[in-house]
Amino acid sequence: MSSAARIPTGIDGLDAMIEGGVIRGDMHLLAGAPGTGKTILASTFAYNATTKLKEKVVYATFEESTEYLLRNMKKLGIDLGAAEKEGSLKVIDLDALKGKELENNIQLLLAAVKETKSTILVIDSLTALLLATESKFELRAFMKSVYKTLKNQGVTTLMTISQTPGMGFGIEGFVADSVMLLENVVDKDQFKTRLIVLKMRGTEHSKRYHSVQFAPKMAVSKY
Ligand SMILES: Nc1ncnc2c1ncn2[C@@H]1O[C@H](COP(=O)(O)OP(=O)(O)OP(=O)(O)O)[C@@H](O)[C@H]1O
Ligand SMILES: [Mg+2]
Repeated sequence: MSSAARIPTGIDGLDAMIEGGVIRGDMHLLAGAPGTGKTILASTFAYNATTKLKEKVVYATFEESTEYLLRNMKKLGIDLGAAEKEGSLKVIDLDALKGKELENNIQLLLAAVKETKSTILVIDSLTALLLATESKFELRAFMKSVYKTLKNQGVTTLMTISQTPGMGFGIEGFVADSVMLLENVVDKDQFKTRLIVLKMRGTEHSKRYHSVQFAPKMAVSKY
């Protein structure tokens, strides 16, 4: 494992937008509507970190089962299953959470990070957590405590959040060191996916929209 201050995402074009990668030890938020590529981006990041950077990663999947996640990502050359067999990645499958179980599940993830001596935690997605909290106040307080705990442990976290209209919570309510946003935009008779970095503490980041392609591998280019 390297201890460089930044961890490259491994996504062509994205690292150049953010001074080479995301800051180690920070909590990064990746927002976007369903189908905008959050899981592909998060998986590429996790896979690159295990295969190229020799980091250890815990990947918590909330909506997609482990089986589906591994199958879908493998099609794009992101072989999370191989990384798991090799021992550099641990996938944790967590069902949608309810009320009081929230805290326990976060504790479970932290325990897995500790046990596997992982440096990176991916939570895909936070939406289940969101839906389980009853008030904005409760959510904010909870996120603040999660943020503090993860920062204290020096874990680099990438959390995705699936934004759907009428969800009741916006990303502005989140405590995070960075926010990246993926969007599908209709252009004539098709949609295109684009990415923008809304915020990244300590980073002179691009403020432009960039085009996103998923195959044969995820890449970001001039919009
Ligand atoms: N093998 C593939 N080749 C080309 N494009 C693909 C492939 N797999 C997925 N995609 C495209 O990438 C999109 C995003 O997939 P992804 O699962 O990462 O979205 P997501 O933001 O995680 O969605 P959700 O919120 O529903 O979990 C798909 O809707 C599809 O358009
Ligand atoms: Mg997803």
